[in-house]
Amino acid sequence: MSALRLGDKAPNFQAQTTEGNIDFYEYLGDSWGILFSHPADYTPVCTTELGTVAKYKHEFDKRNTKVLALSVDGLDSHKGWITDINETQNTNVNFPLIADEDKKVSNLYDMIHPNANDTLTVRSVYVIAPDKTIKLIITYPASTGRNFDELLRVIDSLQLTAYHKVATPANWKQGEDVVISPSISNEEAGQLFSKGFKEVKPYLRLTPQP
Ligand code: BEZ
Repeated sequence: MSALRLGDKAPNFQAQTTEGNIDFYEYLGDSWGILFSHPADYTPVCTTELGTVAKYKHEFDKRNTKVLALSVDGLDSHKGWITDINETQNTNVNFPLIADEDKKVSNLYDMIHPNANDTLTVRSVYVIAPDKTIKLIITYPASTGRNFDELLRVIDSLQLTAYHKVATPANWKQGEDVVISPSISNEEAGQLFSKGFKEVKPYLRLTPQP
């Protein structure tokens, strides 16, 4: 199978997880979703990542986003590791972790990059919209833990731009000005954005976040 790209339909799968067997689409329901892989159980960076996600779970909930993690080790290993994560990260892992021993999901989502490591997954991130299309793909190496503030920020941008004809500029954060999509005329912009807009250049128009 060729690599997944933005706009593709996220493939469905069934998997064993620490919270029981799931069907991915059923698990997501009408929510947004974030699927992310971890190279292996009982490794330091992954331990801090899963602890961080558990602490941020309420932030994903606020954004109507279901969290699903994956590691290629088995269920017993996952359960023992989660005990360690809860102890060392002072948290309570409160989302499912896929036990992908046969690498079915890892291969489906192209999470194994053989020239980096031929057995473990890299740190893949997929954000999936309620219509099951893939909206974001990011790949980090095993040696770099992810920035989950950045992932929340991107989800904020994706959700805003899904419902308004705007885009978010560099380093944008919730509440800051946004840019008006180039396809919108000034006349239409005047009707759409009641707080007005500033035309810096014909192609660069700023408006308060709708
Ligand atoms: C880690 O999670 O710490 C890790 C996993 C695989 C390779 C390097 C680091």
